[in-house]
Amino acid sequence: MLYLIKFGGNAISDGEDLSRLCEEIWEMTDSGHKVILVHGGGPEISAEMERLGMRPTKVNGVRVTDADGLEVAAKVLKKINARVTDALYASDVPHIGMPAYACTLCRKAEPVAYCEDGVQKTADLGLVGEVVSVDTGMLNDILGAGVVPVIYPIGSDGVDDLNVNADTMAAGIAAGMGCDEMIAITDVPGVLKDIKDPSSKYDRLTTDEALELIKDGTISGGMIPKVEACIKAVRAGARAVRMVNGKDPDNIVSGISAESSKGTVITK
Ligand SMILES: Nc1ncnc2c1ncn2[C@@H]1O[C@H](COP(=O)(O)OP(=O)(O)OP(=O)(O)O)[C@@H](O)[C@H]1O
Ligand SMILES: [Mg+2]
Repeated sequence: MLYLIKFGGNAISDGEDLSRLCEEIWEMTDSGHKVILVHGGGPEISAEMERLGMRPTKVNGVRVTDADGLEVAAKVLKKINARVTDALYASDVPHIGMPAYACTLCRKAEPVAYCEDGVQKTADLGLVGEVVSVDTGMLNDILGAGVVPVIYPIGSDGVDDLNVNADTMAAGIAAGMGCDEMIAITDVPGVLKDIKDPSSKYDRLTTDEALELIKDGTISGGMIPKVEACIKAVRAGARAVRMVNGKDPDNIVSGISAESSKGTVITK
């Protein structure tokens, strides 16, 4: 099986969470599965922007990015990538870290429509991208050699570097590579009916049900691009996409069957 595992900045900010994930990846690859890793870095990018006196802005959960913001995002993501590759090294997992521009072609995202105080508006996201195509030959060569690609979501349209939401990047790569399953590791138990109540988790959602939850506002912020990414991956052929909490040692990625009630599973 080919798995795409995506994790967010908050999900495994802790070294222990990261080592646990790396041990699991070791087990997955040892039992013959192939794994592609994509990571984000939202909280750390925001913290670094604030430290530099910049104001992080997001629309529908996606970061509006100017040239300075892009520089910060690229710098922070590269650092996180090094931290992840160090952890994989410590767990004896053969791996190669790379920016998304090394293995994908992206284009600038269209301006997005959003609703503010009941008023419909559109926003230009700036240097923000989405995936157009994936260098499947190169990634398959890497995977075929038993190596885990560790990708951070700075893409390029051939002219400009582009900041890509990590979930959007993960879905683009999962779709392009025909991944069997995508696992999105985040900092919440799954999609929640009430964001303040961790016990209000949906165990399973169809893509239509998930879209409805975006429409009715149940899903907001960073969960919007995440759920859109899950839908894209499922529609591209992944049999299931799971969202799990990286802080919960019970949510062992490799141990969760499609039938389990851990996290939220999104299927067609
Ligand atoms: N209905 C919902 N259920 C669960 N979480 C929700 C919901 N609506 C909004 N969210 C928010 O979505 C967040 C997860 O997305 P976020 O972009 O912050 O993290 P991430 O994608 O895991 O990390 P990164 O952006 O660094 O890759 C949750 O922490 C939560 O605040
Ligand atoms: Mg996110």
